Amino acid sequence: MKVVSVVGARPQLVKLAPVAAAFARTDHRHVIVHTGQHYDVNLSDVFFSGLGIPDPDVHLGVGSGSHGVQTGRILAAIDPVFEAERPDWVLVYGDTNSTLAGAVAAVKQHIRVAHLEAGLRSFNRRMPEEHNRVLTDHAADLLLAPTEDALRHLTREGLADRAVVTGDVMVDVCLRVRDGVLAGAHPRPDLPSGVDPDQPYLLATLHRAENTDDPERLASLVEALAALPLPVALLAHPRLLARAEAQGLKLAQGAVHVGRPVGYAAMVAAVLGSVGVVTDSGGLQKEAYLLGRPCTTLRSETEWSETLDGGWNRLVPDPARLGAAEWVATATRAAPQTPTSTPFGDGRAAERVVETLERWLTVPRRD
Ligand code: UD1
Repeated sequence: MKVVSVVGARPQLVKLAPVAAAFARTDHRHVIVHTGQHYDVNLSDVFFSGLGIPDPDVHLGVGSGSHGVQTGRILAAIDPVFEAERPDWVLVYGDTNSTLAGAVAAVKQHIRVAHLEAGLRSFNRRMPEEHNRVLTDHAADLLLAPTEDALRHLTREGLADRAVVTGDVMVDVCLRVRDGVLAGAHPRPDLPSGVDPDQPYLLATLHRAENTDDPERLASLVEALAALPLPVALLAHPRLLARAEAQGLKLAQGAVHVGRPVGYAAMVAAVLGSVGVVTDSGGLQKEAYLLGRPCTTLRSETEWSETLDGGWNRLVPDPARLGAAEWVATATRAAPQTPTSTPFGDGRAAERVVETLERWLTVPRRD
């Protein structure tokens, strides 16, 4: 069996790591195509080296652009790659523009498409990620759902007959790296200067277009972080830095200490060292849950609703509306007593992904 994985953005590289490792334990041919959606060293290269992912076989180098331009560039650049490779499967990951472009290009060449992390929904059609997920799920031949909740969404959309629950591959990588961090196999977290890793701190990230691109909203979120009574280590995505600069907004104010994004093990170490996480990232909400740190999510909805159980994750769409005292109490709350459960799987999802691709090769195609 020959499988082409299409990746391009940071969270996809994290998901690729356990999948590439699972393929390496088989005789299957696994080809990695990097679209180049993310190109900064700390959004891309550090994940390949840090997680032991083989170098991409093909790099399309598309770079940044508006959603339409970026998606279109990937489509055009990936077409000849699929034509040359003629794989049994194209495997796309998550919800980025690289996901959608990979799926559409494969469908047009009648190559089977499998969508890893299928069935997630925010039900917020303003999010580019929501368009990407819904369109990719409806285009794909095989939907690899991480949770039962994701399967329920697919069932509601009439897609149950092509869906399989495999568990979440991010659990595979998160637990493996956590064990390495706890065993001292990785250096201590590299926090922004001014944040002492031995004193209580909050870890924060902010990169969603709906939070960064509206100047008033971004200013109000940064003000809320600045007002917290603990140091806030804000690991700033380039989108956040670019928008803040364009809007003339200073990020390093009050409690906020600004650093660059870090590699995966450093991120896991930073979460483990923190007393809590404040974020708008999907992956980080889940990592906080898996690593047992309370998370405050600066959004009105989450695709990972299981993290809300027991109060491990709380949605705060607008800290300013919550009032100063309640915002501080929420963001700095202690970890709940309720133990976390295992809705995201047992850490062996990548093996199940490979087995499912093998099994579904024998299922007649829908066309
Ligand atoms: C993308 C995904 C999002 C995912 C996120 C993870 C889409 C629609 N969004 O958002 O789902 O959560 O990745 O990080 O695909 N930039 C750099 N260097 C880079 C990459 C980007 O400076 O290596 C800057 C550029 O100013 C660019 C901006 O970040 O315009 C946004 O990048 P883009 O790839 O469009 O989306 P992300 O915000 O990273």
